[in-house]
Amino acid sequence: MSSSKTPIRVAVTGAAGQIGYALLPRIANGDMFGSDQPVILQLIEIPNDKAMAALKGVAMELEDCAFPLLSDIVLTSDPKIGFKDAHWALLIGSKPRGPGMERNDLIRENGPIFTGQGRAIAEHGHSSVRVAVVGNPCNTNCLIAMHSAKGLPRERFSAMTRLDQNRAQAQLAARAKVPTTSVTNTLIWGNHSATQVPDYKNTRIGGKSAESVIGDLKWLQGEFFSTVQQRGAAIIQARGLSSAASAASALIDHVRDLVRPTPAGEWRSVCVSSDGSYGVPEGLISSFPVRADGKGGWSIVQGLDLDSFLKQRLQATVAELAKEREVVANLLS
Ligand code: NAD
Ligand code: LMR
Repeated sequence: MSSSKTPIRVAVTGAAGQIGYALLPRIANGDMFGSDQPVILQLIEIPNDKAMAALKGVAMELEDCAFPLLSDIVLTSDPKIGFKDAHWALLIGSKPRGPGMERNDLIRENGPIFTGQGRAIAEHGHSSVRVAVVGNPCNTNCLIAMHSAKGLPRERFSAMTRLDQNRAQAQLAARAKVPTTSVTNTLIWGNHSATQVPDYKNTRIGGKSAESVIGDLKWLQGEFFSTVQQRGAAIIQARGLSSAASAASALIDHVRDLVRPTPAGEWRSVCVSSDGSYGVPEGLISSFPVRADGKGGWSIVQGLDLDSFLKQRLQATVAELAKEREVVANLLS
């Protein structure tokens, strides 16, 4: 298929890593921006021979797929070149955790990556550039990038809890013995960490509250909660490596649903800069129910009710985000 549309430039850091390998063919195939939207992939890796050779191999495979929508591939270790005129910057490049670690154990090593990248995106990206952060701890890394990207509006920045949303959706569908499509408005609050809050009250199954359909609050507050919160660790335990195919798929969903208008009555879980909604301190990057307008804007859905258990858990995850912000205060110039 050929298209007359101008290509979208997509910068991807950590492009030779596990997530990159699963992600890039999906973007080039049109899964992120649509089946008639050409893309240029601007792939960024660290300046070392091994990483750049691996990146070259990834690019060779992309060429060998002969994707009709893939207009060009740029390979670089220079953020100035990698982010040049980019419409989207997908920040994946960073170290993953190993068994026994929490994601925020990575903060001191990974956090500094996002200062230089934030600056480079603001200086070299397209005037409409939008940023999605995946590298962990993704909420706080997004905060660092947002503070470093002088002049770019906060609304351009998001971090990913879509994988947690998809995990919660799958767990609820299995428990209710319904297809995953019957579970809608799946909602995660707070941090992409073990304190995240999967909201069984506002998530719906067949249009009704998941709480009423499942009818087992002990399971929802116990096994369901901990399965979703600990799923990343369980995958690391099983594979010896962190999630990659599901993370790449979640990033496709995350960006696609920020670009398109959200269907009436629905929302998606997205980590965005708080405006103080639901008592989350202003400026923290926290997961909220978000609706996209299809024109580059989004809003936080207001007026959802939480029970006392969910409210208490929301306070705890937000306290963790505030603590992470203190740890990286020196990077938030
Ligand atoms: P990986 O180790 O396979 O790949 C990471 C790649 O990033 C490597 O190729 C490395 O060379 C590159 N890199 C490191 N620093 C870089 C920099 N400054 N610029 C450009 N590239 C750089 O790791 P992975 O499995 O692809 O995971 C990447 C990150 O995504 C990890 O931090 C992981 O914890 C996180 N992650 C987040 C989610 C989520 O839901 N938010 C899900 C899965 C993984
Ligand atoms: C995940 O949720 O799978 C990722 O954040 C990787 C991890 O460290 O758990």
